[in-house]
Amino acid sequence: MEKSQGKAGICGHKPKDAKHVKETLQNDAAPWDGGITQAIYDRRSIRRYTAEKVPHESIEEVLKAGMRAPSAKNRQPWRFTVATGKAKEEALDAMEKGLEREKENPLLPESTGYLQGAWHSLGIMRQAPVVIFVSNALGKEIGSAMTVDDRVSEICNAQSIGAALENMSLAAREQGLESLWICNTFFAQKEIRDWLGAEGEPYAAMALGYGDENPPARARKEMREVVEWRA
Ligand SMILES: Cc1cc2nc3c(=O)[nH]c(=O)nc-3n(C[C@H](O)[C@H](O)[C@H](O)COP(=O)(O)O)c2cc1C
Repeated sequence: MEKSQGKAGICGHKPKDAKHVKETLQNDAAPWDGGITQAIYDRRSIRRYTAEKVPHESIEEVLKAGMRAPSAKNRQPWRFTVATGKAKEEALDAMEKGLEREKENPLLPESTGYLQGAWHSLGIMRQAPVVIFVSNALGKEIGSAMTVDDRVSEICNAQSIGAALENMSLAAREQGLESLWICNTFFAQKEIRDWLGAEGEPYAAMALGYGDENPPARARKEMREVVEWRA
């Protein structure tokens, strides 16, 4: 995949006529060329990466976009741990131990059917040159008792972190990079928390690198299935 492919730029709307918009939406294509909507429509979860090293500056641009996300009460609850090289291997060895432990002593007993998928995610993370772990610095340990206030706060912080991750996945494309948002890390929550050794609770990881596949857009539900219009 060409590095320049994602460099179209995510600024500068060029609205086309309404008829075109309707047609392209039906075809799952972006209604505008070169704008932020195009970046949203063109993003894919990428599960194969080349071994090419990612420049430090590109990773910083991705992180800066994450840090520009809105957050509840501007709490900016995100913390990022960028793992490359030996550190990445150590983190993923910890995740592997967690997946092994999950077989015997599951943290997520009702999700064992998805454990195989977690092994697949681990393989992708091993291949990607960069893995960014994203924690909720204000998060309570999973499984701990929560008041309703705590829970609302967690939900708001989770939304804020989701916004950061989406910003990052779009900014990655502007750097010619691809990404995969990963929550299968939850199967190894304890082991990843221990490896991070920081305050807060791990929420997700993002694999980052130059893409080595070009998958078609994955299906989305129809608007009528997910939207109710009221007037
Ligand atoms: C919160 C969240 C968690 C995800 N976790 C994983 C994961 O652990 N492993 C994985 O391969 N994909 C993961 N994905 C990617 C989704 O599978 C993907 O977004 C979805 O299938 C739609 O495909 P697309 O992103 O290419 O449009 C995750 C996405 C989100 C938003």
